[in-house]
Formats: sequence, C-alpha cells, structure tokens
Amino acid sequence: MSLAQTTHSGGEESLFESISDDIVEKGYSIRLNALPENLTSLLLQHVIELPDENFKRAGIGRTKEHLINDLVRTDEISWITSNSVASCAWIKWSESLQAYLNRRLFLGLFSFESHFSHYAKGDFYKKHKDAFKGEDNRVLSVVVYLNQHWSAGDGGELVIYDENTPASSVVDHRRITVTPNLGTIVVFLSEEFPHEVLPARQDRYSIAGWFRLNNSIANNIDPPS
Ligand code: OGA
Ligand code: MN
Repeated sequence: MSLAQTTHSGGEESLFESISDDIVEKGYSIRLNALPENLTSLLLQHVIELPDENFKRAGIGRTKEHLINDLVRTDEISWITSNSVASCAWIKWSESLQAYLNRRLFLGLFSFESHFSHYAKGDFYKKHKDAFKGEDNRVLSVVVYLNQHWSAGDGGELVIYDENTPASSVVDHRRITVTPNLGTIVVFLSEEFPHEVLPARQDRYSIAGWFRLNNSIANNIDPPS
C-alpha cells in the first residue's frame, strides 16, 4: 500500500472513531474539514456542474402538498444514484461509515439514501425532524457541505436543537449553529434532534443522507405499493 493510501485510510478511521464517540456522548457530531479532500473536490465539481433541471422541489405532488411545502422548505433536491464518479465515491464513503458504525455501535444500519440540495438566495428549511418515533426507520442523518467561500453574513446556517440539555441563562447550549463550509460533516440521531436551515443569502449546496434500518425489522412494515 502506498504512503498516500495509508495516510488516507488512517485518517478516515480516526474520523469515524470521533463521529462514533460523539454520537455515544451527545447524539450528534459536527466535524470541520472532515470529508477526504479528494472526495470533497469531486463532489464540489459535480454539484456545480449538475444541470438546473436535475434539481426538483422536494415532495411535490398535489397542489395542496405543494402549498404546505412552500411554508416548510424551499430548497431543491437531486437524489444521488451511482451515475457518476463523484456519486459512486460518495456512496462508497457512506458505506464505510455505515460499516464502521455498525461494528462499533451495533446500530444495525442497513441502507443509505441521499440527495444534493441547492438553496438559492432566500431559501430555507424550517424546524423539522427527519424521523418520528415508531413512524420511520431513518436512524441516522448525515449532512455534508459543499460551499467554498461562506462568510458570516451569508446566512444558511444549520441550527440543531438539543432539547435534552438543560436550559441555561448564560450560554444557550441548546441551539447549535453550523456554518455550511466545504468539508464539514454533521451526523445526528434522526429521531432526536429537530433542526432547521436559516435563509441563505447566496447559493448553498449540501448533501443530506439517511441511514435506515432494514424495512422488515423496523416498527412499521412498509405498505405494499
Ligand atoms: C434536510 C436537512 C440540512 C442542511 O435536508 O433534511 O435538514 O443543512 N438539511 O442542508
Ligand atoms: Mn433535515
């Protein structure tokens, strides 16, 4: 194995260990400059080159749904499939994270789904949870940011609400703010943490993904479609 490969896999293992330790300790993990640099640049280039028409409003269906959707989230998404070098590299990376977390934490993570998100100027995603107890089999949420130059005034922060931590009048530890900088990774228990995306003041790109349990062992058996 070349030195470059050794360094890379060693770094990955220690990142996965930090994420795992954070999850055990507090249920979420925020790591800056975490994604391997070659993967970050592949994804950044890919997302920038994706044609606009690949991005669609999430959950668009009936008109009523569309109206409700407008109040909750205004970003556009593009589901990730193995149709490019960058997407394949991302899926492979998520598989190694999944394998590590299953080994260390016995989470029983079974599958992974993810999409690119584009928040144009003014776009937001109001406070929400990615999964509800007994209703969904999303276990762990992963968010990765793909913005090269993000300044303090650009908005678009992710706010995570840690409602298990007692309120304090001095510092608000219950509201964790994440700047969507290139290479930052956020991982959290999907059922535990409401979160929101504050209005972005410039184009903002991220990946949101979810590890799921096997449908057949989740609380709900998927209805036949
Ligand atoms: C989501 C989400 C957060 C982000 O897509 O469910 O919460 O920072 N995304 O993009
Ligand atoms: Mn979410």
